[in-house]
Amino acid sequence: MVAVLKPTYPALRPMRVEDLEQVAAIEAAAYEFPWTFGIFNDCLRAGYASWVLTRTGGEIVGYGVLSVAAGEAHVLNVAVAADERGQGQGRRIMSRLLDLARWHRVERIFLEVRPSNPVAIRLYHDLGFNEIGRRPNYYPARHGREDALVMAMEMLPPEPPLA
Ligand SMILES: CC(C)(COP(=O)(O)OP(=O)(O)OC[C@H]1O[C@@H](n2cnc3c(N)ncnc32)[C@H](O)[C@@H]1OP(=O)(O)O)[C@@H](O)C(=O)NCCC(=O)NCCS
Repeated sequence: MVAVLKPTYPALRPMRVEDLEQVAAIEAAAYEFPWTFGIFNDCLRAGYASWVLTRTGGEIVGYGVLSVAAGEAHVLNVAVAADERGQGQGRRIMSRLLDLARWHRVERIFLEVRPSNPVAIRLYHDLGFNEIGRRPNYYPARHGREDALVMAMEMLPPEPPLA
């Protein structure tokens, strides 16, 4: 007999092209200057680690995108649908991205965040990120541009076992 397991909520799985309508809809509601469907599609094609968080039934409630290259990882995007926030979903997605970065044995992980986004900044601090600088005029803003806060976390691999 084969047991058919229903996915338990919340479930994290790699993002697929078929997800992009839902992902782009969450994105459009989450940001004033959102990524387009095409940008997410490019991330998939580029092989960036792109994951979605789903509830039972398969509806997508959040996602995260991570690039990894040359021993460094970069959190490119993370968002949770507005009616699902404040319940640990953003932390779950970020934890998966951090696990992926560790799996790739990166030494350092970076992200940019708007200084006007205290919720995200608090989450990142809580996870162990530190502010390492600013990129002036990085983001489009309603009245001109906004700086980006650059945050990073060292992810040194464990010491090798003693011979
Ligand atoms: C940032 C975001 C992903 C957080 O997701 P979330 O599911 O709401 O966050 P969680 O419930 O996992 O909370 C994780 C931590 O975030 C912080 N946080 C969450 N909601 C908060 C709030 N209303 N006020 C202050 N801090 C808050 C807390 O540190 C919280 O940890 P705690 O619950 O132990 O206090 C979500 O708010 C979001 O999608 N925002 C719009 C898109 C965005 O700004 N993305 C980040 C771009 S850099």
